[in-house]
Amino acid sequence: MRNFTYYTPTEVIFGRNAEEQTAALIKKYGGRKILVHYGGGSVKRSGLLDRICTQLTNEGIEYILLGGVVPNPRLSLVHEGIELCRREGIDLILAVGGGSAMDSAKAIAYGTPYEGDVWDFFCGKAKPATALPVGVVVTNPATGSEMSDSCVITNEADKDKRGYSSPLGRCRFAISNPELTFTLPPYQTAAGVADIMMHTMERYFSNDMDMALTEALAEALLRTMKENAYKVLANPTDYTARTQIMWGGSLAHNGLTECGMLRDWANHKMEHELSGMFDVTHGAGLTALWPTWARYVYKSNIQRFVRFAVNVMGVPADPANPEAVALKGIEAMESFYKDIKMPVNLPELLGRPVTEAEIAELARRCSHDGTITVGNLRVLTQEDIAAIYRLANQ
Ligand code: NZQ
Ligand code: ZN
Repeated sequence: MRNFTYYTPTEVIFGRNAEEQTAALIKKYGGRKILVHYGGGSVKRSGLLDRICTQLTNEGIEYILLGGVVPNPRLSLVHEGIELCRREGIDLILAVGGGSAMDSAKAIAYGTPYEGDVWDFFCGKAKPATALPVGVVVTNPATGSEMSDSCVITNEADKDKRGYSSPLGRCRFAISNPELTFTLPPYQTAAGVADIMMHTMERYFSNDMDMALTEALAEALLRTMKENAYKVLANPTDYTARTQIMWGGSLAHNGLTECGMLRDWANHKMEHELSGMFDVTHGAGLTALWPTWARYVYKSNIQRFVRFAVNVMGVPADPANPEAVALKGIEAMESFYKDIKMPVNLPELLGRPVTEAEIAELARRCSHDGTITVGNLRVLTQEDIAAIYRLANQ
């Protein structure tokens, strides 16, 4: 098994009314004049933003509002946020929303004290020496950004979606009240579950097979997400089920389910090209690719797919026919995606097939012009990546 570092410094406040502690946490982490950053309006409609602003005023915390973060958050708004933070002398950023608001806040936090363009970090041209502290009130359990070290931004000028990960990207605090997720539309709920599960699957589908505890945690997480996805889609105000998903979202991407194992991440890398180019919902982009990826790579580690089939998808064990079991596990996952109304191929995702020219462009971007490979369970070259997009296009 591999040596590992497990670093999760984020203070998590979880449960009913957790957001009432927002002002206290801001003060604890040194915020006196803050930027409140949010999306397209769901937090206004729910009244959450108003409640938080009232709390800030009552507690004597100055704040500036910056809304308008869109799914697949844009670099231009990050630039605007950086200017605002500098001009106003902001000392902490509070994101109120889903992964997009959280990631936009993280990027603003990196960029404010940096003299160059924040995009440098996403291109690998520079590393941040420091960042403003970020706290979040989570309204969409999906990306796990509240506990992850990642931040994903789209440079809309050339539809280039890139992630940057650093310990400085960890939030100081995350406030998670499952009741705040009751208003999520079914599509976002399902896409969120798919993303949560994929964060663990990207780690679970590894050739390292000797971390029994990590594997068991991953399998339990995946089973729990699957079970509770049906419950929240049937009853969006099921607090207990929403709780499982919200906590699962944080644990799936805080590093817990990778300890001692080499991660894969091919699906995420291929998906980020899709959501960069076509502006689709990240979780839906993942389900549109995974069944094809799985069938393309499973022979590289049939036993891993067998364990997934038996321990996660409930396929009966059949030691004499491992390949059949592995394939049934993939099929069962595909059926689950269909049950929760997620796409299982590119035409379903986009409403049309992608063209051969688009496939070439997606594969070119994903492989950085053929200079890098993606994935570890099976290492994928530019040609493999193009083949997977092509197979997912049928
Ligand atoms: O913008 P508003 O009006 O708030 O509406 C949002 C948005 O339309 C809505 N929404 C969120 N919470 C709601 C709600 N609607 C009703 N009730 C609520 N409680 O849902 C829509 C999607 O929100 P968004 O924040 O875009 O979704 P998500 O949380 O899935 O974030 C997606 C972004 O995160 C990136 C993705 O690539 C994508 O850009 N990721 C970030 C990661 C990270 N930082 O660790 C890891 C992930 O793999 C992912 O790449
Ligand atoms: Zn993801």
